[in-house]
Amino acid sequence: MAFDSFDYSGMLRPGLPPAAARWNGFPKYNFVGGHNDADSVPVDGLIAAAASVLKREGKTLATYGLESGALGYRPLREFIAGKLARDTGIECSVDEILITSGSLQGLDLVNQVLLSPGDTVIMEQMTYSGSITRVKRLGAEIIGVPTDHDGMSAAGLASALEDLRRRGVKPKYIYTIPTVQNPTATVMSEARRAELLELSRTYAVPIFEDECYADLTWDGKRPRALRAMADCDRVVHIGSFSKSIAPALRIGYLVAGWPLMSRILGIKSDGGSGALEQMVLAEYCRDHFDAHVRTLRQTLRRKLDTLIEALRMQFGDAAELEYPAGGIFLWVKLPDVVDTSRLYQVALGAGVAINPGAEWMTDAASGKSRLRLCFAHPSEQIIREGVGVLADVCRREFGLPHPPAAAHR
Ligand SMILES: Cc1ncc(COP(=O)(O)O)c(C=O)c1O
Repeated sequence: MAFDSFDYSGMLRPGLPPAAARWNGFPKYNFVGGHNDADSVPVDGLIAAAASVLKREGKTLATYGLESGALGYRPLREFIAGKLARDTGIECSVDEILITSGSLQGLDLVNQVLLSPGDTVIMEQMTYSGSITRVKRLGAEIIGVPTDHDGMSAAGLASALEDLRRRGVKPKYIYTIPTVQNPTATVMSEARRAELLELSRTYAVPIFEDECYADLTWDGKRPRALRAMADCDRVVHIGSFSKSIAPALRIGYLVAGWPLMSRILGIKSDGGSGALEQMVLAEYCRDHFDAHVRTLRQTLRRKLDTLIEALRMQFGDAAELEYPAGGIFLWVKLPDVVDTSRLYQVALGAGVAINPGAEWMTDAASGKSRLRLCFAHPSEQIIREGVGVLADVCRREFGLPHPPAAAHR
Protein backbone atom coordinates (compact mmCIF):
# COMPACT_ATOMS: atom_id res chain seq x y z
CA MET A 1 0.00 0.00 0.00
CA ALA A 2 1.40 3.42 -0.95
CA PHE A 3 1.27 6.11 1.74
CA ASP A 4 0.40 9.71 0.94
CA SER A 5 3.61 11.70 1.08
CA PHE A 6 4.36 13.79 4.13
CA ASP A 7 6.31 17.03 3.95
CA TYR A 8 9.47 16.65 6.05
CA SER A 9 11.22 19.60 4.42
CA GLY A 10 10.68 22.04 7.29
CA MET A 11 11.95 19.50 9.83
CA LEU A 12 15.24 18.42 8.29
CA ARG A 13 18.45 19.18 10.15
CA PRO A 14 20.27 22.11 8.52
CA GLY A 15 23.42 21.29 6.53
CA LEU A 16 22.36 17.86 5.27
CA PRO A 17 24.01 16.66 2.04
CA PRO A 18 21.88 16.88 -1.14
CA ALA A 19 19.03 14.38 -1.45
CA ALA A 20 20.05 11.06 -3.02
CA ALA A 21 18.89 10.17 -6.51
CA ARG A 22 16.88 6.99 -6.94
CA TRP A 23 18.90 4.02 -8.18
CA ASN A 24 17.91 3.03 -11.70
CA GLY A 25 20.32 0.17 -12.28
CA PHE A 26 23.90 0.29 -13.51
CA PRO A 27 24.73 1.88 -16.85
CA LYS A 28 25.89 -0.51 -19.59
CA TYR A 29 29.46 0.79 -19.56
CA ASN A 30 30.18 1.16 -15.86
CA PHE A 31 33.61 2.63 -15.12
CA VAL A 32 32.71 4.23 -11.77
CA GLY A 33 33.05 3.37 -8.12
CA GLY A 34 35.06 0.54 -6.64
CA HIS A 35 33.14 -2.42 -8.04
CA ASN A 36 35.14 -5.60 -8.47
CA ASP A 37 35.34 -8.39 -11.05
CA ALA A 38 32.15 -10.45 -10.66
CA ASP A 39 33.66 -13.74 -11.86
CA SER A 40 36.43 -13.40 -9.28
CA VAL A 41 34.10 -13.43 -6.28
CA PRO A 42 34.97 -16.80 -4.67
CA VAL A 43 31.34 -17.90 -4.46
CA ASP A 44 31.95 -21.62 -3.87
CA GLY A 45 34.59 -20.92 -1.27
CA LEU A 46 32.27 -18.52 0.55
CA ILE A 47 29.42 -21.07 0.48
CA ALA A 48 31.68 -23.75 1.97
CA ALA A 49 33.00 -21.30 4.57
CA ALA A 50 29.48 -20.20 5.53
CA ALA A 51 28.33 -23.81 5.94
CA SER A 52 31.25 -24.86 8.07
CA VAL A 53 31.38 -21.81 10.33
CA LEU A 54 27.62 -21.75 10.85
CA LYS A 55 27.52 -25.45 11.73
CA ARG A 56 30.29 -24.98 14.24
CA GLU A 57 29.45 -21.59 15.74
CA GLY A 58 26.05 -20.53 14.42
CA LYS A 59 24.51 -20.40 17.88
CA THR A 60 26.80 -17.53 18.84
CA LEU A 61 24.66 -15.34 16.56
CA ALA A 62 22.30 -15.17 19.54
CA THR A 63 24.49 -12.49 21.12
CA TYR A 64 25.52 -9.06 19.90
CA GLY A 65 29.18 -9.24 18.94
CA LEU A 66 29.10 -13.08 18.80
CA GLU A 67 31.36 -14.13 21.67
CA SER A 68 34.12 -11.74 20.69
CA GLY A 69 33.13 -8.38 22.19
CA ALA A 70 32.82 -4.97 20.58
CA LEU A 71 36.01 -5.15 18.49
CA GLY A 72 34.55 -7.82 16.22
CA TYR A 73 34.82 -11.56 15.53
CA ARG A 74 38.08 -12.66 17.09
CA PRO A 75 39.17 -15.23 14.45
CA LEU A 76 38.90 -12.50 11.81
CA ARG A 77 40.99 -10.16 13.94
CA GLU A 78 43.51 -12.99 14.37
CA PHE A 79 43.70 -13.46 10.60
CA ILE A 80 44.17 -9.70 10.09
CA ALA A 81 46.85 -9.49 12.81
CA GLY A 82 48.81 -12.30 11.12
CA LYS A 83 48.45 -10.80 7.68
CA LEU A 84 49.46 -7.32 8.87
CA ALA A 85 52.58 -8.71 10.54
CA ARG A 86 53.55 -10.69 7.44
CA ASP A 87 52.69 -8.15 4.73
CA THR A 88 53.03 -4.72 6.33
CA GLY A 89 55.37 -5.13 9.29
CA ILE A 90 52.64 -3.97 11.69
CA GLU A 91 52.96 -5.95 14.92
CA CYS A 92 49.74 -5.49 16.84
CA SER A 93 47.57 -7.44 19.22
CA VAL A 94 44.04 -8.47 18.26
CA ASP A 95 42.84 -5.85 20.76
CA GLU A 96 44.28 -3.11 18.58
CA ILE A 97 42.11 -4.19 15.63
CA LEU A 98 38.51 -3.10 15.23
CA ILE A 99 36.30 -4.68 12.56
CA THR A 100 34.30 -1.97 10.80
CA SER A 101 31.45 -1.93 8.30
CA GLY A 102 33.78 -1.26 5.38
CA SER A 103 36.72 1.10 5.71
CA LEU A 104 34.22 3.92 5.11
CA GLN A 105 33.07 3.36 8.67
CA GLY A 106 36.72 3.57 9.72
CA LEU A 107 36.93 6.97 8.05
CA ASP A 108 33.74 8.08 9.78
CA LEU A 109 34.84 6.87 13.20
CA VAL A 110 38.23 8.56 13.07
CA ASN A 111 36.62 11.77 11.84
CA GLN A 112 33.97 11.64 14.52
CA VAL A 113 36.48 11.34 17.33
CA LEU A 114 38.96 13.88 15.97
CA LEU A 115 37.20 16.55 13.90
CA SER A 116 35.17 19.59 14.86
CA PRO A 117 33.94 22.33 12.54
CA GLY A 118 36.80 24.69 11.66
CA ASP A 119 39.51 22.01 12.05
CA THR A 120 42.13 21.45 9.36
CA VAL A 121 43.12 18.18 7.69
CA ILE A 122 46.01 17.61 5.24
CA MET A 123 45.54 15.26 2.29
CA GLU A 124 47.10 14.39 -1.05
CA GLN A 125 45.87 16.94 -3.61
CA MET A 126 44.45 14.08 -5.66
CA THR A 127 42.61 11.75 -3.32
CA TYR A 128 39.56 9.65 -2.61
CA SER A 129 36.35 11.65 -3.06
CA GLY A 130 34.71 9.84 -0.14
CA SER A 131 37.38 11.20 2.18
CA ILE A 132 37.08 14.74 0.81
CA THR A 133 33.28 14.84 1.17
CA ARG A 134 33.36 13.37 4.67
CA VAL A 135 35.84 15.93 6.00
CA LYS A 136 34.02 18.82 4.32
CA ARG A 137 30.67 17.66 5.64
CA LEU A 138 32.03 17.96 9.17
CA GLY A 139 32.98 21.58 8.49
CA ALA A 140 36.73 20.97 8.48
CA GLU A 141 39.11 22.61 6.01
CA ILE A 142 41.29 20.54 3.68
CA ILE A 143 44.82 21.49 2.67
CA GLY A 144 45.90 19.59 -0.45
CA VAL A 145 49.55 18.57 -0.85
CA PRO A 146 50.95 17.90 -4.35
CA THR A 147 51.84 14.34 -5.28
CA ASP A 148 54.48 12.83 -7.54
CA HIS A 149 55.35 9.31 -8.66
CA ASP A 150 56.24 8.51 -5.04
CA GLY A 151 52.96 9.75 -3.54
CA MET A 152 52.51 12.74 -1.25
CA SER A 153 55.38 15.19 -1.73
CA ALA A 154 57.47 15.51 1.45
CA ALA A 155 58.55 19.03 0.49
CA GLY A 156 54.90 19.95 -0.14
CA LEU A 157 53.89 18.49 3.21
CA ALA A 158 56.72 20.31 4.99
CA SER A 159 55.67 23.62 3.50
CA ALA A 160 51.97 23.03 4.31
CA LEU A 161 52.82 22.15 7.93
CA GLU A 162 55.14 25.12 8.29
CA ASP A 163 52.60 27.49 6.77
CA LEU A 164 49.90 26.23 9.14
CA ARG A 165 52.28 26.52 12.11
CA ARG A 166 52.99 30.17 11.21
CA ARG A 167 49.25 30.80 11.12
CA GLY A 168 48.83 29.11 14.50
CA VAL A 169 46.84 26.20 13.03
CA LYS A 170 47.48 22.65 14.20
CA PRO A 171 46.04 20.17 11.69
CA LYS A 172 44.22 17.19 13.13
CA TYR A 173 45.81 14.62 10.86
CA ILE A 174 47.65 13.94 7.62
CA TYR A 175 45.50 11.58 5.53
CA THR A 176 47.31 9.47 2.95
CA ILE A 177 46.66 6.45 0.73
CA PRO A 178 50.27 5.31 0.40
CA THR A 179 49.99 1.93 -1.31
CA VAL A 180 48.18 2.06 -4.66
CA GLN A 181 46.92 5.57 -4.19
CA ASN A 182 43.36 6.43 -5.22
CA PRO A 183 43.19 7.83 -7.90
CA THR A 184 46.84 7.93 -9.07
CA ALA A 185 47.64 4.26 -8.26
CA THR A 186 51.24 5.06 -7.24
CA VAL A 187 53.02 3.30 -4.37
CA MET A 188 54.85 5.47 -1.84
CA SER A 189 58.46 4.36 -1.33
CA GLU A 190 59.76 3.55 2.15
CA ALA A 191 62.11 6.53 1.89
CA ARG A 192 59.13 8.85 1.33
CA ARG A 193 57.23 7.15 4.15
CA ALA A 194 60.17 7.84 6.46
CA GLU A 195 60.15 11.52 5.43
CA LEU A 196 56.43 11.81 6.15
CA LEU A 197 56.86 10.15 9.53
CA GLU A 198 59.67 12.53 10.42
CA LEU A 199 57.45 15.51 9.59
CA SER A 200 54.58 13.96 11.54
CA ARG A 201 56.95 13.61 14.52
CA THR A 202 58.39 17.13 14.22
CA TYR A 203 54.99 18.80 14.02
CA ALA A 204 53.25 16.28 16.31
CA VAL A 205 50.50 15.66 13.78
CA PRO A 206 49.18 12.09 13.45
CA ILE A 207 49.01 10.24 10.15
CA PHE A 208 45.82 8.55 8.99
CA GLU A 209 46.88 5.73 6.65
CA ASP A 210 44.21 4.29 4.32
CA GLU A 211 45.38 0.99 2.83
CA CYS A 212 42.31 -0.20 0.99
CA TYR A 213 44.19 -1.34 -2.15
CA ALA A 214 47.49 -2.54 -0.68
CA ASP A 215 46.80 -6.23 -1.49
CA LEU A 216 46.53 -5.41 -5.17
CA THR A 217 50.05 -4.39 -6.26
CA TRP A 218 50.83 -6.33 -9.43
CA ASP A 219 53.86 -8.12 -7.99
CA GLY A 220 52.18 -8.71 -4.63
CA LYS A 221 54.93 -6.77 -2.86
CA ARG A 222 54.42 -3.63 -0.85
CA PRO A 223 56.57 -1.38 1.37
CA ARG A 224 56.15 -1.48 5.12
CA ALA A 225 53.09 0.36 6.39
CA LEU A 226 53.58 3.79 7.91
CA ARG A 227 52.18 2.41 11.15
CA ALA A 228 54.88 -0.28 11.15
CA MET A 229 57.62 2.33 10.66
CA ALA A 230 56.33 4.81 13.25
CA ASP A 231 58.16 5.25 16.55
CA CYS A 232 54.93 5.46 18.51
CA ASP A 233 51.18 5.15 18.17
CA ARG A 234 51.01 8.16 15.84
CA VAL A 235 49.57 6.39 12.80
CA VAL A 236 45.99 5.13 12.54
CA HIS A 237 45.73 2.42 9.89
CA ILE A 238 42.61 1.27 8.05
CA GLY A 239 42.16 -1.54 5.56
CA SER A 240 39.37 -3.40 3.82
CA PHE A 241 38.24 -6.67 2.25
CA SER A 242 36.24 -4.72 -0.36
CA LYS A 243 38.92 -4.76 -3.02
CA SER A 244 40.45 -8.16 -2.25
CA ILE A 245 37.26 -10.19 -1.76
CA ALA A 246 34.04 -8.21 -2.39
CA PRO A 247 32.81 -4.68 -1.61
CA ALA A 248 29.23 -5.71 -0.83
CA LEU A 249 30.42 -7.67 2.23
CA ARG A 250 31.11 -4.30 3.90
CA ILE A 251 33.96 -5.47 6.08
CA GLY A 252 36.99 -3.35 6.86
CA TYR A 253 39.26 -2.84 9.86
CA LEU A 254 40.97 -0.15 11.85
CA VAL A 255 44.24 -0.46 13.76
CA ALA A 256 44.95 1.92 16.63
CA GLY A 257 46.39 1.83 20.14
CA TRP A 258 44.01 1.56 23.07
CA PRO A 259 43.92 5.29 24.02
CA LEU A 260 42.36 6.17 20.64
CA MET A 261 40.64 2.81 20.13
CA SER A 262 38.76 3.12 23.41
CA ARG A 263 37.38 6.50 22.28
CA ILE A 264 36.44 5.10 18.88
CA LEU A 265 34.67 2.15 20.53
CA GLY A 266 32.75 4.68 22.58
CA ILE A 267 31.04 5.94 19.46
CA LYS A 268 30.76 2.70 17.45
CA SER A 269 27.32 2.13 18.85
CA ASP A 270 25.94 0.02 15.99
CA GLY A 271 25.81 -3.27 17.87
CA GLY A 272 28.72 -4.64 15.82
CA SER A 273 29.40 -4.94 12.10
CA GLY A 274 27.69 -7.75 10.15
CA ALA A 275 28.48 -10.95 12.05
CA LEU A 276 27.85 -13.44 9.27
CA GLU A 277 30.19 -11.59 6.92
CA GLN A 278 32.92 -11.57 9.57
CA MET A 279 32.53 -15.28 10.27
CA VAL A 280 32.51 -16.27 6.61
CA LEU A 281 35.50 -14.08 5.80
CA ALA A 282 37.55 -15.46 8.68
CA GLU A 283 36.72 -19.02 7.69
CA TYR A 284 37.44 -18.41 3.99
CA CYS A 285 40.51 -16.21 4.28
CA ARG A 286 42.44 -18.48 6.66
CA ASP A 287 43.17 -21.00 3.89
CA HIS A 288 42.32 -19.25 0.64
CA PHE A 289 43.09 -15.52 0.78
CA ASP A 290 46.56 -15.61 -0.78
CA ALA A 291 45.69 -17.86 -3.71
CA HIS A 292 42.51 -15.89 -4.38
CA VAL A 293 44.28 -12.53 -4.44
CA ARG A 294 47.06 -13.89 -6.68
CA THR A 295 44.47 -14.87 -9.31
CA LEU A 296 42.47 -11.66 -8.86
CA ARG A 297 45.57 -9.56 -9.53
CA GLN A 298 46.12 -11.35 -12.85
CA THR A 299 42.50 -10.75 -13.89
CA LEU A 300 42.65 -7.08 -12.94
CA ARG A 301 45.90 -6.53 -14.78
CA ARG A 302 44.51 -8.11 -17.93
CA LYS A 303 41.54 -5.74 -17.78
CA LEU A 304 43.83 -2.77 -17.17
CA ASP A 305 45.86 -3.67 -20.24
CA THR A 306 42.66 -3.93 -22.28
CA LEU A 307 41.57 -0.50 -21.06
CA ILE A 308 44.90 1.10 -21.89
CA GLU A 309 44.93 -0.51 -25.34
CA ALA A 310 41.38 0.76 -25.99
CA LEU A 311 42.30 4.27 -24.82
CA ARG A 312 45.38 4.29 -27.04
CA MET A 313 43.27 3.19 -29.99
CA GLN A 314 40.40 5.62 -29.42
CA PHE A 315 42.06 8.62 -27.79
CA GLY A 316 45.66 8.28 -29.02
CA ASP A 317 47.93 10.84 -27.37
CA ALA A 318 44.92 12.82 -26.13
CA ALA A 319 44.77 10.49 -23.11
CA GLU A 320 47.75 10.96 -20.79
CA LEU A 321 48.23 8.33 -18.14
CA GLU A 322 50.76 6.59 -15.92
CA TYR A 323 50.70 2.81 -15.72
CA PRO A 324 49.16 1.96 -12.31
CA ALA A 325 51.23 -0.01 -9.80
CA GLY A 326 48.12 -2.06 -9.01
CA GLY A 327 44.48 -1.68 -8.02
CA ILE A 328 41.32 -1.16 -10.01
CA PHE A 329 41.56 2.41 -11.33
CA LEU A 330 43.20 4.31 -14.14
CA TRP A 331 43.67 8.07 -13.71
CA VAL A 332 43.57 9.83 -17.06
CA LYS A 333 44.31 13.38 -18.17
CA LEU A 334 42.54 14.61 -21.30
CA PRO A 335 43.39 17.85 -23.14
CA ASP A 336 42.50 21.07 -21.28
CA VAL A 337 39.47 21.79 -23.50
CA VAL A 338 37.71 18.76 -22.10
CA ASP A 339 35.60 19.39 -19.01
CA THR A 340 35.10 15.91 -17.57
CA SER A 341 32.20 16.99 -15.34
CA ARG A 342 30.33 17.89 -18.51
CA LEU A 343 31.66 14.77 -20.26
CA TYR A 344 30.33 12.70 -17.35
CA GLN A 345 26.80 14.01 -17.86
CA VAL A 346 26.75 13.57 -21.62
CA ALA A 347 28.44 10.17 -21.49
CA LEU A 348 25.91 8.93 -18.95
CA GLY A 349 23.19 9.67 -21.48
CA ALA A 350 25.03 7.29 -23.83
CA GLY A 351 25.31 4.60 -21.15
CA VAL A 352 28.92 5.29 -20.08
CA ALA A 353 29.64 6.16 -16.44
CA ILE A 354 32.97 7.78 -15.55
CA ASN A 355 34.22 9.54 -12.43
CA PRO A 356 34.98 13.18 -13.29
CA GLY A 357 38.36 14.32 -11.96
CA ALA A 358 37.07 17.38 -10.07
CA GLU A 359 35.60 15.08 -7.42
CA TRP A 360 38.99 13.47 -6.82
CA MET A 361 40.89 16.70 -6.12
CA THR A 362 41.06 18.79 -2.97
CA ASP A 363 41.04 21.74 -5.37
CA ALA A 364 38.23 20.74 -7.76
CA ALA A 365 39.23 23.12 -10.57
CA SER A 366 42.57 21.35 -11.14
CA GLY A 367 40.72 18.12 -11.91
CA LYS A 368 38.67 19.64 -14.71
CA SER A 369 40.21 17.59 -17.52
CA ARG A 370 40.93 14.42 -15.55
CA LEU A 371 38.82 11.33 -15.12
CA ARG A 372 39.04 8.09 -13.21
CA LEU A 373 38.09 4.81 -14.82
CA CYS A 374 37.45 1.65 -12.81
CA PHE A 375 38.38 -1.32 -14.98
CA ALA A 376 37.63 -4.11 -12.50
CA HIS A 377 33.94 -4.64 -13.12
CA PRO A 378 33.26 -4.35 -16.87
CA SER A 379 34.20 -7.28 -19.10
CA GLU A 380 37.02 -6.77 -21.61
CA GLN A 381 34.50 -6.47 -24.42
CA ILE A 382 32.48 -3.88 -22.51
CA ILE A 383 35.71 -1.99 -21.76
CA ARG A 384 36.56 -1.84 -25.50
CA GLU A 385 33.06 -0.82 -26.52
CA GLY A 386 32.63 1.65 -23.68
CA VAL A 387 35.88 3.49 -24.45
CA GLY A 388 34.73 3.73 -28.07
CA VAL A 389 31.39 5.26 -27.03
CA LEU A 390 33.18 7.62 -24.63
CA ALA A 391 35.51 8.77 -27.40
CA ASP A 392 32.53 9.42 -29.73
CA VAL A 393 30.73 11.44 -27.06
CA CYS A 394 33.89 13.38 -26.21
CA ARG A 395 34.53 14.14 -29.89
CA ARG A 396 30.97 15.40 -30.41
CA GLU A 397 31.10 17.57 -27.32
CA PHE A 398 34.69 18.87 -27.35
CA GLY A 399 36.05 18.17 -30.84
CA LEU A 400 38.55 15.67 -29.41
CA PRO A 401 39.96 13.04 -29.76
CA HIS A 402 40.58 12.97 -33.50
CA PRO A 403 39.00 9.90 -35.12
CA PRO A 404 41.18 6.80 -34.71
CA ALA A 405 43.29 5.81 -37.68
CA ALA A 406 41.79 2.32 -37.65
CA ALA A 407 38.35 2.13 -36.11
CA HIS A 408 38.31 -0.97 -33.91
CA ARG A 409 35.05 -1.70 -32.21
C1 LIG B 1 40.85 5.11 -0.52
C2 LIG B 1 39.58 4.47 -0.11
N1 LIG B 1 39.29 4.36 1.18
C3 LIG B 1 38.16 3.77 1.60
C4 LIG B 1 37.24 3.28 0.69
C5 LIG B 1 35.99 2.63 1.21
O1 LIG B 1 35.97 1.29 0.98
P1 LIG B 1 35.12 0.22 1.81
O2 LIG B 1 34.22 0.98 2.74
O3 LIG B 1 34.36 -0.53 0.79
O4 LIG B 1 36.12 -0.59 2.55
C6 LIG B 1 37.49 3.37 -0.67
C7 LIG B 1 36.52 2.85 -1.64
O5 LIG B 1 36.64 2.92 -2.83
C8 LIG B 1 38.69 3.99 -1.08
O6 LIG B 1 38.99 4.11 -2.37
